[in-house]
Amino acid sequence: MMLAAGIASFNPRLLAAPTGLISKKIPSSNEPLPVIGMGSWQTFDVGNDEFALPVRLNILKTFFNMGGAIIDSSPMYGNSEKVIGYCLESLKNKQALFSATKVWVHGQWMGKQQMKQSRYLWGVENFDLMQIHNLLDWQVHLPTLKEWKKQGKIRYIGVTTSHGRRHTELERILQKESLDFVQFTYNIIDREVEQRLLPLAAELGIAVIINRPFQGGRLFNYVKNKKLPSWTKEFDCENWAQFFLKFIVSHPQVTCAIPATSQVAHMQENMGACYGRLPDAKMRQQMIEYFG
Ligand SMILES: NC(=O)c1ccc[n+]([C@@H]2O[C@H](COP(=O)([O-])OP(=O)(O)OC[C@H]3O[C@@H](n4cnc5c(N)ncnc54)[C@H](OP(=O)(O)O)[C@@H]3O)[C@@H](O)[C@H]2O)c1
Repeated sequence: MMLAAGIASFNPRLLAAPTGLISKKIPSSNEPLPVIGMGSWQTFDVGNDEFALPVRLNILKTFFNMGGAIIDSSPMYGNSEKVIGYCLESLKNKQALFSATKVWVHGQWMGKQQMKQSRYLWGVENFDLMQIHNLLDWQVHLPTLKEWKKQGKIRYIGVTTSHGRRHTELERILQKESLDFVQFTYNIIDREVEQRLLPLAAELGIAVIINRPFQGGRLFNYVKNKKLPSWTKEFDCENWAQFFLKFIVSHPQVTCAIPATSQVAHMQENMGACYGRLPDAKMRQQMIEYFG
C-alpha cells in the first residue's frame, strides 16, 4: 500500500496537515492525497437556502480542519459548484484544497465554456483535477483536457463512471489513453471493480477515486440498530461510516473515497476514517464475510 503519512513535509498543500492523517500518493506525480475527500452531489445543491448554507460552510470548515483536501463536484450537480465557491470564499482554512470537477456536456466549444464557468463558480484560477463525467463525449473533450494540462490550466486529468456502468469501455480508455485519475463505484456490497479495473489502474499507474462509498447512503440501512463488532477496534473504527470507508481505502489500489454529506456530525465521522489503523487483508476478508 502506498501510504504517505510521513512525507507531508515536501508538499506545501499538506504542510499544515494534522498529525497522523492517512494519505496515499497519486502515481503520476507522487503527490500525497488524504484518503478521504468529499463528494457534493445533492448535498451541496442547496441554492440560496439561508438555513442550509451556513451548515454547508461548517461542513467544509470541519473537512479542512480535519485534514481534508479533495472536493469532487460537477456541473451536473445543480447549484453545488456555486455553493462550494460561496463556502471557499468565506473559509480561511482551505490551503489544502484539491479542486476536482468534471466536464459534462456535448461538444468541444461547450466543454471549454463549461470548464471556464466552473472555474468562475468555484472561484479558483485553475482546477487540480478535471474529469470527463460519465465518459460523456470523451473523445471530444480529452484533447482539450490534454491541451489545458500542457498549458498548466489543469494539473491532472481523468474520467468517471458509477453504478458499475460502461466498465468494458472504461477499461479500453484506460489502456489507450494517458490519464492521471479514474473514478468509479466501489463499496463493501459492490465489489465488481476488484476483478479488473482496480488491478488495471494499479498496473497503469492511475490514481483511483471511489464514488458512492455508502452506496448512496443505503449501506446504513443494513446496519440500523446493529452494534459494531468488537474486532473493528483492531483498526480503530468508531462507527459504521468508518467501517465502510476504511474497508474501501485499505484496498491497496484505491487512492481515496469521496463520501457526500449534508451534516457536520457525519463529516466528523467520515474524516475520522483518515486516522488510526486500517484493516489488513485478513481483516478485510472478515469485513466482507460479516456482510455475507
Ligand atoms: N459518475 C460520477 O462521476 C459520479 C457518480 C456518483 C457519485 N459521484 C460522486 O461521488 C460522491 C459520493 O457519492 P453519493 O453522493 O452518490 O453517495 P454516498 O457518498 O455513497 O452516500 C451519500 C449518503 O450517505 C449519507 N451519509 C454520509 N455520511 C454519513 C454518515 N457518517 N452516517 C450516516 N449517513 C451518512 C448521506 O446522508 P447525510 O447527508 O444525512 O449525511 C447521503 O445520503 C457524489 O457526491 C459525487 O461527488 C460521481
